[in-house]
Amino acid sequence: MFLKHLECSACGLHHDWSRLQNLCRACHKPLFAVVDLAAASRTLTRERLATREKSLWRYREVLPLPGDVEPVSLGEGETPLLRGQKFADDIDLWIKDESLNPTQSFKARGMSVAVSMAKYLGATKLAVPSAGNAGGALAAYAARTGLEAHIFMPRDTPLANIVECRELAAHVTLIDGLITDCGAEIARRKEKEGWFDMSTLKEPYRVEGKKTLGYELAEQLNWQLPDVILYPTGGGTGLIGMWKAFDEMEALGWIGKKRPRMFAVQAAGCAPIVRAFEAEAKTAAEFPDAHTIASGLRVPKAIGDFLILNILRGSHGGAIAVDDEEMIRTAREVGSKEGLFLCPEGAACFAALKPLQRAGKIASGERAVIFNTGAGIKYLECYYSFADKKAVREGLTKN
Ligand SMILES: Cc1ncc(COP(=O)(O)O)c(C=O)c1O
Ligand SMILES: [Zn+2]
Repeated sequence: MFLKHLECSACGLHHDWSRLQNLCRACHKPLFAVVDLAAASRTLTRERLATREKSLWRYREVLPLPGDVEPVSLGEGETPLLRGQKFADDIDLWIKDESLNPTQSFKARGMSVAVSMAKYLGATKLAVPSAGNAGGALAAYAARTGLEAHIFMPRDTPLANIVECRELAAHVTLIDGLITDCGAEIARRKEKEGWFDMSTLKEPYRVEGKKTLGYELAEQLNWQLPDVILYPTGGGTGLIGMWKAFDEMEALGWIGKKRPRMFAVQAAGCAPIVRAFEAEAKTAAEFPDAHTIASGLRVPKAIGDFLILNILRGSHGGAIAVDDEEMIRTAREVGSKEGLFLCPEGAACFAALKPLQRAGKIASGERAVIFNTGAGIKYLECYYSFADKKAVREGLTKN
């Protein structure tokens, strides 16, 4: 294993990786894994990757977990990167379809790595606040390796996520509130209950799994990063993870200095990062009365806000909000033009594309990548009821 230590993303303090831990003990900010890339590069080469198993564990040398320990895996990663056919004809559009992961979302990547490490370091009971998909992923990986999963979700989380967690034998608690309230409930009870807190960026390894989004994208684009990335941003772990991957790949000599312009896409009803970006703030204030059907984007306060904002600015990208009606409308347009049943979070990125083009943020002919982070099929009631309500409003009898 080439993991050297953990480093605080804010104050830089080093922490020993070999014990279960959450945030920096000095400043309570997220910890990042620091990998010995020079040593890793002796066995991990771009050429060898092509011959390895088709899961994210093919990047083993840059992931945590000792080499002789079997990862907890359900075949995550290696999702298709599809060329857009008809949605945008004036740019070179690609879609990374993360709905093909185990439990139908990109959350599988983070949980495969984080559950592997939590188990290795001795945790037996894992707890997570979730907008839905992270809960399903934790439930699956915990079940796979015989650990307990305790999942706290807002009561109005899509039904598929709730049922999935229960069928995967997780302990599910529904909270009248938002994901931040779920996190607070875990924080209150975890010591007494003996739970290890798996909240994103509050443990060091979910971001390591998510960084494989960046490795895989580069590999699939023949080591040329795109001009633009649109990422549906809640906690921002995928965005932060990809950025880390880009730096690691540059240190490995796999890519050059060029970085994509990173755009965070949020929902108009919950857009703390957009507000903070526009206000040129370093951190994002909690967004009041957060609401959106894109449950993964209903994150009013993210612990990694300062990291997200740094990346958006450092990459000369930005942040944009899309309203729910536009997400739903766009999902159907993408369905008809691309043959993909998007999650609303992915649809938000498609909906953001044209406004960004109109604002001159994406030029014609540029290569843009959109992440469809999950499966539309998990949001049936949200699509169904939206179409229904619209039909009633417009006096239609059918839709
Ligand atoms: C489908 C989907 N997309 C996007 C997000 C936001 O992900 P991140 O925390 O990496 O910003 C989530 C989080 O719950 C999600 O479930
Ligand atoms: Zn610190």
